[in-house]
Amino acid sequence: MTANPSRLIFRPTIHVYHVRPPNSSSKTLTSLHLHLISLSSPISVLPPLRSFRHQSFFSATSRSRPFSSLSSSPERHTPNPSSSVNATSSPSGALSRPPISDVRPKIDANPPKGTRDFPPEEMRLRTWLFQNFRDVSQLFGFEEVDFPVLESEALFIRKAGEEIRDQLYCFEDRGNRRVALRPELTPSLARLVIQKGKSISLPLKWFAIGQCWRYERMTRGRRREHYQWNMDIIGVPEVTAEAELISAIVTFFKKVGITDADVGFKVSSRKVLQEVLRRYDVPEDLFGRVCTVIDKLEKIPLDEVKRELASAGMSEEAIQELLEILSIKSLAMLEERLGTSGQAVGELRKLFSFAEKYGFSDWIQFDASVVRGLAYYTGIVFEGFDREGKLRAICGGGRYDRLLSTFGGDDISACGFGFGDAVIVELLKEKGLLPELGLQVDNMVCSLDPELQSAAALVASTLRGKGQSVDLVLQTKPMKWVFKRAARINAQRLILVGSSEWQNSMVAVKLLATGEQYQVKLDELE
Ligand code: HAM
Repeated sequence: MTANPSRLIFRPTIHVYHVRPPNSSSKTLTSLHLHLISLSSPISVLPPLRSFRHQSFFSATSRSRPFSSLSSSPERHTPNPSSSVNATSSPSGALSRPPISDVRPKIDANPPKGTRDFPPEEMRLRTWLFQNFRDVSQLFGFEEVDFPVLESEALFIRKAGEEIRDQLYCFEDRGNRRVALRPELTPSLARLVIQKGKSISLPLKWFAIGQCWRYERMTRGRRREHYQWNMDIIGVPEVTAEAELISAIVTFFKKVGITDADVGFKVSSRKVLQEVLRRYDVPEDLFGRVCTVIDKLEKIPLDEVKRELASAGMSEEAIQELLEILSIKSLAMLEERLGTSGQAVGELRKLFSFAEKYGFSDWIQFDASVVRGLAYYTGIVFEGFDREGKLRAICGGGRYDRLLSTFGGDDISACGFGFGDAVIVELLKEKGLLPELGLQVDNMVCSLDPELQSAAALVASTLRGKGQSVDLVLQTKPMKWVFKRAARINAQRLILVGSSEWQNSMVAVKLLATGEQYQVKLDELE
């Protein structure tokens, strides 16, 4: 039996929209119902139902019926109670349709506070930056890894009273699990190392570029969502690892045009603090807490820091000595104070000597006040800063030899750094070093006649098959428009498909840089 195509293909879709006033429940629908019938598609032509929370005072239902059953069925005018599903009460929790009504509520077109959209020009900059991160990481023989943005909340809850904990975006999921958007990548890396267990061969050299979330007070270069480039070395206890990591960051800076006149690294070691605390018999388990308090030195009044140190169990004498040592800005002075035999001084000396061989001595300086805000660092710590002092830290890292055991794994020595995408862009802007990143395509292909649109598609496909990028003009447009667009997208060539040339399987080519024009056979077009 031959089927009647019109009967099979065109199934009308009736969309019944119940428009409710704000604040009314789904059960108190008003009598206003809009009925839309679309005849042009075998299935609903409207987009799939999806969440539209800000418009939740609208509910919508959608049903399909065969064309034959249409006509003046009362169903078209009377809402079917079974179809009056409240948009927010569907099993998926995601039923709602953009409203069709004169009273369209306007959504806030801005992204949530502290977050960013990446329109093409921003995306080009991000891609350029990430490519530089990747190039440098690969230059140093690192492998790329990634982790979920959503992690178990427990991964980020540490005892030491860190700021990062108060900034956590956390919630309970539908399975009653406490989860959090990652504020940093290091705990996920540690988790993965534990998960891999003995199957990994050390040392690991891993890098990652991932989005992190922190409910921050917004300042220049600090936002609620940022991307971080991380490089970490797992399984090397010597300072050779720190030296290699700082060298990688310096390589990145040089690659994007930043010099040691623009940026420096403050370097210290948490072992300096450890030595002071040991002298005053401050218990080891208070170490992390003391570090997070000291990290606030520049952010909160000195008296408050002293009070917090005292409440962490330090005597007044110990606090006094600690603050004195923290003000030391040269390795020679530190040696005078602590002697030359301790681990802290020994490791710092080695790092500075490596810096000479690597050629980044001019980039680094000792500064005992750098302790970093994260509780897990155990040894050398460093922070990249702009010498003009206008911006927050550009990057920061250090050694964290005992993080794995806090998650129940066996400790493996580790160090690494995090480098955000926001401050570096501010710095590049300040220094006039932001690259010009226009869109660029090899060819723009345009038919001169609607009849030749498929011929133009053939030309575009042929060029793409040869590895050339093509922007195909998809509608018939005046030449003025075509040239304007070609200039905007930086097309190298304009290829016109006109009827007289096409009859001979030829196209017209215009080189946009020189204005040179010629005709060429399609199969000779390179
Ligand atoms: P962090 O110092 O908290 O360290 O962050 C590292 C870098 O991420 C900062 O220097 C900054 O560039 C960027 N950053 C942090 N918070 C924000 C924010 N709210 N907005 C914009 N940029 C931000 C860590 O996260 C450690 N996990 C780094 C690490 C890796 N240590 C060892 N391995």
